[in-house]
Amino acid sequence: MNAYKLLTPGPLTTTDTVKREMLVDRCTWDDDYKAVTQKIRRQLLELAHVSADDYTAVLMQGSGTFGVESVLTSVVGEEDKVLICSNGAYGVRMTEICARSRVPYVHYAQNYDKVPDAARVARLLEEDPAITHVAMVHSETTSGILNDIQSVGKVVRDAGRTFIVDAMSSFGGVDIPAADWGIDFLVSSANKCIQGVPGFSFILCRREKLLKSEGKARSLSLDLLDQWRGMEKDGKWRFTSPTHVVLAFSRALDELAQEGGIPARSRRYAENNRLLIEKMRAMGLP
Ligand SMILES: Cc1ncc(COP(=O)(O)O)c(C=O)c1O
Repeated sequence: MNAYKLLTPGPLTTTDTVKREMLVDRCTWDDDYKAVTQKIRRQLLELAHVSADDYTAVLMQGSGTFGVESVLTSVVGEEDKVLICSNGAYGVRMTEICARSRVPYVHYAQNYDKVPDAARVARLLEEDPAITHVAMVHSETTSGILNDIQSVGKVVRDAGRTFIVDAMSSFGGVDIPAADWGIDFLVSSANKCIQGVPGFSFILCRREKLLKSEGKARSLSLDLLDQWRGMEKDGKWRFTSPTHVVLAFSRALDELAQEGGIPARSRRYAENNRLLIEKMRAMGLP
């Protein structure tokens, strides 16, 4: 078996201590297990620099796509319309989700080597008052480009619309002050920069906007508001939760803090990146 040194962008290599957490069996109904869920939810809000008065965290079974699909199909109603800004496969996947679930959308497709332009988004919002939401990817993993969600977020907030961000391969590795950047829904997953193992995604939601999504969900299992209502009571997941993965994730969050938080992890990733480029150049790769 090949013991990889570096797997990226995720699932990535996890520590032995994170993996060891999965040797313990837990019951989804037990108070100590539900407390782990609540601890994770609190820690996620802290990582995004948001207060529990304004934001709340929802954990959702399934991979990252399930989280993105949960948001798009739960908060964009039949009378709404979402502007999807894409510059890679994961942005395009958002359009596929909307098409499949008949979520009204328009698509601003940017070249893969360029970031979606905030001024263009502002114009599109001005021209089409029917647009209620804007969705885009932060780190477009297909190319590695880091999109300027801060500028787009400002434009979306100024226009009074709702901003949905797929921060799958950035959250935990890149600092994202969600409230300051005008993000209303932020999606990421267990197995990316927080360095847990695959099995669930999580969504940071502006409370007020989450509550406004009442009655909009098209799916039972991916209903974001329903999932939140269950979890908010006492940490119990609506349907069977991936207990081993949740324990591993809780440990991974603690290890992120021990490392020095997002700034320290960011520096390590940047150094890995620099080293990779340097060594590949030395090997004669262009
Ligand atoms: C930016 C981004 N969005 C969405 C996804 C989809 O996540 P998953 O493959 O976990 O469903 C990925 C996966 O790498 C991603 O990088």
